[in-house]
Amino acid sequence: MTTINKEQVQLLEDTYGLKDKVVVVTGSSKGIGATIAKEFAKKGAKVVVNYNASSSAAENVVDEITQLGGTAIACKANVSNIEEAKSLIEQTVNEFGRIDILINNAGITRDRTFRKLSEAEWNEVINVNLNSVYHTTSAAINTMLEQKFGRIINISSIVGQAGAFGQTNYSAAKAGMIGFTKSLALETAKNGITVNAICPGYILTEMTAEIPENVMESIVSRIPMRRLGTTTEIAEACIFLANSEYITGQCINVNGGAYM
Ligand code: CAA
Repeated sequence: MTTINKEQVQLLEDTYGLKDKVVVVTGSSKGIGATIAKEFAKKGAKVVVNYNASSSAAENVVDEITQLGGTAIACKANVSNIEEAKSLIEQTVNEFGRIDILINNAGITRDRTFRKLSEAEWNEVINVNLNSVYHTTSAAINTMLEQKFGRIINISSIVGQAGAFGQTNYSAAKAGMIGFTKSLALETAKNGITVNAICPGYILTEMTAEIPENVMESIVSRIPMRRLGTTTEIAEACIFLANSEYITGQCINVNGGAYM
């Protein structure tokens, strides 16, 4: 990550309307979530870095943000558990007085061809990737309605649109996020709340590092831009949606042309 000085931070804050906005990013101790947290902080937002197990990685994200003069706290919560998700949102509102932007990013894979897929692997992925979205959003929605302002951004996936070999569980959860996004967008549009999804393609993270080399070669050969995306490219799409008043119920593809 390139570092920037305080004058540059000020310029970014003036350019984008995110100063003092309160943002919760689920699963932001590493990967796409960590970059989203840092990029929002650079633009003046107050960031809640949610993690489940990786406390030291989450503290590192918070330290990076505070060293740049930004504001962030780390908050442990397993968002697949409704009580812990509620507590994450309650702690956010207690600390910062509001919640403006909720980024549902937490996600896992348990890749297996369907015939070998266990019920536990199915449930784990549906709970972490999809039920978590219900848990956090239901906890945050009343505050957003009272504020008459909210941005909900769901990090779905190209796999929710196109499917992928060995990913029935993940694909079902990610497609579910897209349906959820559109329905909630309809219900909240008149209340100043936008709900959108981002569908990343294959992004350079620990998750894609686990893809077997031969499978990865075939994936890259099918990406028109012939490269994986970066976490910053996903964060930029989140910032765009957070700043937009008139985009709702949409699914923004950030995938190098891999699905159109
Ligand atoms: N395409 C076509 N055939 C495949 C295949 C593929 N990608 N992967 C495996 N197969 C075939 C095997 O060759 C084998 O064929 P035969 O029976 O004829 O030998 C058959 O499928 C069964 O293979 P396995 O016994 O190895 O199957 P498995 O149940 O152990 O699962 C796998 C293997 C998990 C699918 C493994 O191939 C894999 O990890 N693939 C990558 C999955 C992937 O792309 N994950 C993306 C992670 S990143 C992400 O998800 C982020 C995002 O949002 C994009």
